[in-house]
Amino acid sequence: MQTKQFKIEGTPRDEAALDAAAALLRAGKLVVIPTETVYGLAANALDPAAAAAIYTAKGRPCDNPLIVHIASLDELPPLVKAVPDALYRLADRFWPGPMTVILEKSDLVPSATTGGLDTVAVRMPAHPAARALIRRAGVPLAAPSANLSGSPSPTCARHCIDDLDGRVDAIVDGGPCEVGLESTVLTLCEQPPQILRPGAVTLEMARQVLADIELGPGVFERLPDGVRAASPGMKYKHYAPKARVILVHAARGPFANFLASRKGRFGALCLAGDEQALSCPCIVYGAQDDAASQAHGLFDALRQIDRAGLPLVYARVDGAGGVGQAVYNRLLRAAGFEELWV
Ligand code: TXA
Ligand code: MG
Repeated sequence: MQTKQFKIEGTPRDEAALDAAAALLRAGKLVVIPTETVYGLAANALDPAAAAAIYTAKGRPCDNPLIVHIASLDELPPLVKAVPDALYRLADRFWPGPMTVILEKSDLVPSATTGGLDTVAVRMPAHPAARALIRRAGVPLAAPSANLSGSPSPTCARHCIDDLDGRVDAIVDGGPCEVGLESTVLTLCEQPPQILRPGAVTLEMARQVLADIELGPGVFERLPDGVRAASPGMKYKHYAPKARVILVHAARGPFANFLASRKGRFGALCLAGDEQALSCPCIVYGAQDDAASQAHGLFDALRQIDRAGLPLVYARVDGAGGVGQAVYNRLLRAAGFEELWV
C-alpha cells in the first residue's frame, strides 16, 4: 500500500490536506493523525471493518480495545448507555485534553472497536488538526497510538513513518506532540472510579473533581499471573526497546559511581547534565526535576536506544510527582519492572 503524507503547517494549504485526509476516513481508510499526547492511528469508530483494519496494521492483539475520539460533548451520548454526572464534571475541567474516560457502551459502537468489551473508552483531544479531522470526517474516530504493537508510542511523524509506512493509507504530520505520553485513562465503571493509566491529568488533578478516585492495580507494580487487567493494554509488554533496561533510582553522583563499577557494554538513559559525569554512551530523555520535559522526550529516547544497538541500558529515575508518575509508569514497563536503588 502507498502511504500518502500530508503536512499541517498553519497555512491555508492545510484546508486541502484536512479535506483529503477526512475523505479517506469517511471511506473507511486508515489515517495517522496528530494529537497533543501521541500520534493516533485513526479510522471510523462505528465501522467494524475499519476498526479491524487498525488491529491488522498495528499487529495489535484483538482483545485490546481502542479509544474513540470525539470533537464535542454532544457526540458522546449516542456512544454510551448513560452519561454520568461525574463525566460532565471531568469534561468541564479536562476536555478537550489528555484524558480518556471508560463508560458503558451503546449498541452503536461495534465490539470490533472495543475489543469485545461492553465498555468504551472516549477522549476529546485538544490538537486542532485532530479536532478538525473528527469534524470533517463526521464520525467519531477510533485511534490507538500509531506505533507497531509493542514499540514506544510515536511523538512525531517520523516515528509513524518508521513503523507504519506502507501499512496505512495516509499520515498527517502536525509536528511534534506537545505532551509526549498517552492520555490518562480512567474508568467510571468501577466504584470508586480508578485511574488505569496515568498521564498528564494526574491523580491529584483528578481528585480535585472526583475526591474518591484511586490508582488502579498494576499502575506501579506487575500484576500477578492470572489477574485480569482492567485495561487490557496494561497486560502487554509495552514501550520496550530490544535492549534490557534497568531503572536506577539515584542522584547524579551515585548514578555515575554505580555505572563506573559496571563491566561490559551498556549505555545510560539519563537526564540533561548527567552526560558530563558518565563515560558510557548517553541518551538524554529530559531535564532533572522537570517531569514535563521527561514526558516530552521519553519515547523518542526509547527509540534511540535501539538505533544505538545497545544490549543494556541503565535508566536514571528522578522521583518527581505529577506527570512524573506517568513517566515512571512507562519506564517501569520499558524495564519489565526491573529496578534498583543506589
Ligand atoms: O493519548 C492517547 O490516549 C492516545 C491518542 C492517540 O489518543 N491513544 C492511545 O491509545 O494511547 P492506545 O490504544 O495505545 O491505548 C489505549 C489504552 C489501552 O491500554 C487499552 O487497553 C485501554 O486504553 N482501553 C481502551 N478501551 C478500554 C476499555 N473499554 N476498558 C479498559 N481499557 C480500555
Ligand atoms: Mg498504545
